[in-house]
Amino acid sequence: MDLSDSLGIAVLGLGRMGRFHAANLAAGVPGARLAAVAEADAALLAEAAARWGAARSHGSVDEALADPDVDAVIVATPTPTHADIVAAAARAGKHIFCEKPIAQDPKVVAAACRAAASVTLQVGYQRRFDPSFERAHDLIGAGAVGAPYLIKLTGHDLQPPPLEYLRASGGIFRDMAIHDFDMARWLAGDEVAEVFAAGAARIQPEVASLGDVDVAATVLRFRGGCLAVVDNSRQSPPGYDVRVEVYGPDGHVVVGEQTLTSVTVWRQGGGQRDPVHPWFTERFADAYRREIEDFAACVRRGSPPRVRGEDDLAAISIAGAATRSLRSGRAEAV
Ligand SMILES: NC(=O)c1ccc[n+]([C@@H]2O[C@H](COP(=O)([O-])OP(=O)(O)OC[C@H]3O[C@@H](n4cnc5c(N)ncnc54)[C@H](O)[C@@H]3O)[C@@H](O)[C@H]2O)c1
Repeated sequence: MDLSDSLGIAVLGLGRMGRFHAANLAAGVPGARLAAVAEADAALLAEAAARWGAARSHGSVDEALADPDVDAVIVATPTPTHADIVAAAARAGKHIFCEKPIAQDPKVVAAACRAAASVTLQVGYQRRFDPSFERAHDLIGAGAVGAPYLIKLTGHDLQPPPLEYLRASGGIFRDMAIHDFDMARWLAGDEVAEVFAAGAARIQPEVASLGDVDVAATVLRFRGGCLAVVDNSRQSPPGYDVRVEVYGPDGHVVVGEQTLTSVTVWRQGGGQRDPVHPWFTERFADAYRREIEDFAACVRRGSPPRVRGEDDLAAISIAGAATRSLRSGRAEAV
């Protein structure tokens, strides 16, 4: 594309994530603009058009893909629609930022990656753009702790989603732990060979009837020998809890919990810190903005994105092996 033009981005799907991306684009992303929005729900579309007046609004994805003012799309529709939209967007010559995962079946992800080979395809593992995780990654890459041999990853949501959502989610590993699996790969700089997972339905016992769990512990064994231990749950009353520790022969790197401010009040009897961020939208607000800034920069420069379709393929394959391990009670190869 001509670097003097800004990248016209259409947001497809205006639910939880789509509205977030549209708001960030409308607030200003260097080198990019919110060119259009597309949404199947007419009321949501009308509200978005009023809120972000500059954008053109389309009642369907096909209409948005035919819009000549659209250079790239953010796919924020439900996961089962992603693979077809990715293929159609690539055929229309649009660059693609797709929310994670592209699909729940690794074969479908692989096919979508092949279909999008001619355009930029970035996937929404936003934690890689969080300043703390990014710094930890760069320090480890520079040899700060030596070659990592153990990674501990914690991921706990504030509260469980409705059962209706869980029914179509693909289970805790594909829906939630997948962010930790992606982070483990990125920090280890290696691929996972084998997975052992255990889980229980301890928060909403009804999830057992869906074949799912809401508390899970997963061990990943990397090809080079590094181990990762991932703990997840669907409920954390104190707030959204995401942390990482990376151990190597020369020390360890910690990304700790992030409180709303770093202020602590000390009084007789003890101290009190501010709470952690309530949800992922607050904890990763910077990361969601920075991933789209980087996507726009990669498209404009013609450089590969930080999170490629192949990274989604690796993460969803780990999640599939974890799901198999939960059922078999044995370690499963990826
Ligand atoms: N990166 C993250 O941290 C993160 C967090 C939450 C969700 N997600 C992912 O984002 C995606 C969307 O999740 P969500 O929670 O925003 O979903 P959502 O249900 O809140 O929103 C989806 C929207 O897409 C619209 N839609 C559905 N089919 C459509 C179509 N064919 N054309 C146009 N519009 C259509 C729906 O009407 C709805 O408004 C999922 O893939 C999910 O896994 C990622």
